Amino acid sequence: MSTLKTALTGIKPTGAPHIGNYLGAIRPGLALAADPAVRAFYFIADHHALTSVGSAAELRRDTLEVAATWLAFGLDPARVTFYRQSDVPEIFELSWILACQTPKGFMNKAHAYKAVADRNLEAGEPEDAGVNIGLYTYPVLMAADILIVDADLVPVGKDQVQHVEIARDLAARVNHHFGDGALRLPKAAVVEHSAVVPGLDGRKMSKSYGNSLPCFLPAKKLRKEVMRITTDTTPPEAPKDPDSSLVYQIHRALIEPAAAAALADVYRAGVSWGEAKQLLADELERQLADPRARYDDLMAHPAQIDALLADGAARARAVAGPVLARVKAAVGLR
Ligand code: ADP
Ligand code: TRP
Repeated sequence: MSTLKTALTGIKPTGAPHIGNYLGAIRPGLALAADPAVRAFYFIADHHALTSVGSAAELRRDTLEVAATWLAFGLDPARVTFYRQSDVPEIFELSWILACQTPKGFMNKAHAYKAVADRNLEAGEPEDAGVNIGLYTYPVLMAADILIVDADLVPVGKDQVQHVEIARDLAARVNHHFGDGALRLPKAAVVEHSAVVPGLDGRKMSKSYGNSLPCFLPAKKLRKEVMRITTDTTPPEAPKDPDSSLVYQIHRALIEPAAAAALADVYRAGVSWGEAKQLLADELERQLADPRARYDDLMAHPAQIDALLADGAARARAVAGPVLARVKAAVGLR
């Protein structure tokens, strides 16, 4: 029996990718893809972005940015099947079949919708203000993304674990209803120490909160953003508690656990916030300088990126087609 595992993940093109995306999804995804026993499918979730997109030009730019980010960090398109979700229509057909197995109550509890609904209630707005059906049924499309290639592992940050569990549940429902073996059950692959990277203000770092450190800001600008991270008023010489510091939590997610333990000692010995931030900015520069140069070069050649993604889509469809045919046969559509 083959021990080959399939990994899949997606990132929405809704803004410049930040170091939360890098540490939660891209770095673990690339580590998985480097394993010869793994077949990897990584894609740009442009249909998911449509739930909140501003304009066609923005979607186009954000799509290129996400693609260039993956490539700049070292994605090898010869090894990884790398594509735009909207170029693989099989995902949509599967999405409908899954929707018809999805209890409405599942969606009420799903994180993407619930986050917006909770924010509305807090602001004294009607619960569903600004909620479109695409956002509401977001996890069904995400389940189709995952199940269409028989994925085993889904490298994501912690915020997406619930969505992967919904995909697993829906696959199990289809199997239960139409016969075992119709769909493979996926699992989230979460790297614990970088599962939730906080943003400048302490909430989860997110493109939608304006609290992120974008991976490829020019070095000076990035350093300036680091200086904005919220800190307390502990005097410069006083010992600092690393675990309650946002600067430390972001820094820790970037480095190995042993280096993080040594850094915690520096905090406890009493580092000023200014110095702590410089240390973080230095580490970011060490890890981002080379990828930034590649990113800038890639962004100057969008046609190359488009060609790569088109090739990836053809390869993804070659895998997705037979999976869709299998599911259609199982449910009696063919
Ligand atoms: P955003 O919330 O910034 O819009 P996405 O929803 O597009 O980001 O997330 C893309 C991937 O990056 C997902 O796997 C998600 O779990 C991961 N991710 C996003 N933000 C973080 C974070 N702050 N810490 C860890 N992983 C994250
Ligand atoms: N929902 C994910 C996010 O907001 C993006 C995404 C879409 C995804 N489809 C996916 C992630 C499939 C993993 C697998 O971050």
